[in-house]
Amino acid sequence: MKNHNHDKKVLVTGGAGYIGVVQIEELLEKGYAVKVLDTLYWGEEPLKHLKDRIEIIQADIRDVDPSIVKDVWAVIHHAGLSNDPMAEFNPKANFEINTEATKRFAKLCKENGIQKFTFASSASIYDKGLLAEDVLQDENSKVEPKAAYSLSKYKAEQELLKLADKDFCPVIFRQGTVYGFSPRMRYDLVVNTMLKTALMTNKLLVFCGGEQWRPLIDVRDVAQAHIVALEAPKEKVCGQIFNLVYKNYRVLELAHWVRKALREIKGLNPEIEVDYSPRRDRSYRISGEKIKKVLNWEPKISVEESLKGMIKKIEEYKYTDFMNPKYYNIEWMKLLSEVVELQKKVKRVF
Ligand SMILES: NC(=O)c1ccc[n+]([C@@H]2O[C@H](COP(=O)([O-])OP(=O)(O)OC[C@H]3O[C@@H](n4cnc5c(N)ncnc54)[C@H](O)[C@@H]3O)[C@@H](O)[C@H]2O)c1
Repeated sequence: MKNHNHDKKVLVTGGAGYIGVVQIEELLEKGYAVKVLDTLYWGEEPLKHLKDRIEIIQADIRDVDPSIVKDVWAVIHHAGLSNDPMAEFNPKANFEINTEATKRFAKLCKENGIQKFTFASSASIYDKGLLAEDVLQDENSKVEPKAAYSLSKYKAEQELLKLADKDFCPVIFRQGTVYGFSPRMRYDLVVNTMLKTALMTNKLLVFCGGEQWRPLIDVRDVAQAHIVALEAPKEKVCGQIFNLVYKNYRVLELAHWVRKALREIKGLNPEIEVDYSPRRDRSYRISGEKIKKVLNWEPKISVEESLKGMIKKIEEYKYTDFMNPKYYNIEWMKLLSEVVELQKKVKRVF
């Protein structure tokens, strides 16, 4: 069968990020043409294996040249500040990038006749804290996000939904916390963090007694979901919100999965250390039924399978310099801002 996808160019914002790189791999695998829009905060290195097959535009989504969307069929919008610490470090930039720029960019896409626009929102929108009522939340549950990050995502969702009409079709994914290997690796996400701590110290540290709930999903499943939405009939997805979760886990259960994977792959047997002292943390669990029902699609990669793959890939890519700040978004962004400030004074090195 002839593949016609190469006529369809997908613009991936944040395409040089943790999810973005895997998103591009999946799009190329399905034969799509790909254009990337990214500030390249982590450089171009994570895209080096794909470089010859894609177009890379280094730009800030807050300030893009409108011509960037001219030849584009659909947009997958991952660009943004992607966790609580980054949002709290610079709430202004967080709001500008995650909310305002999302709105402006979506408008530009609409004006240019792009129909499908998927958005990487966050299931942290559902968080009401560790002591809140423990209920399974779905896309109709009442949400009251308070943290800078989740609020910025929620406001962006609302702006996108306002733009939905018979031609412009925004699709919103409330993504659970992501796990798994990416060529642009992050060790600041709960499963990945546990794995790297166990590899470094042969210990698994669990806080708040490990009672907290987290909806989790593999990075490749997230990428698949965005593609499924691009390929779905408009009337099924237009202006819809979908939760993305493989399964909800208590953090203590995760520690057991990490230990099992390490036993089987590396013969290690890390000790699980549980700390019961009170501390601020998120806790929420969500339903993934809607996407199954509406799109007949569900995430497939379990934490166990993902961990086993990750343990091997980390070694293959030599991502075992675990303390390198590049794996921790907030550490990296703090460093970058210091360097940019210094660079204004230090004009030349050597
Ligand atoms: N990783 C998760 O667990 C998770 C969960 C829910 C939602 N999300 C959302 O998914 C998206 C991707 O997350 P990720 O884990 O890949 O994060 P990431 O930080 O690895 O990737 C974000 C990418 O966006 C780029 N970027 C940031 N600001 C930009 C700007 N102003 N203009 C252009 N590019 C910019 C960065 O350079 C980076 O390559 C984010 O919007 C995040 O909020 C992530």
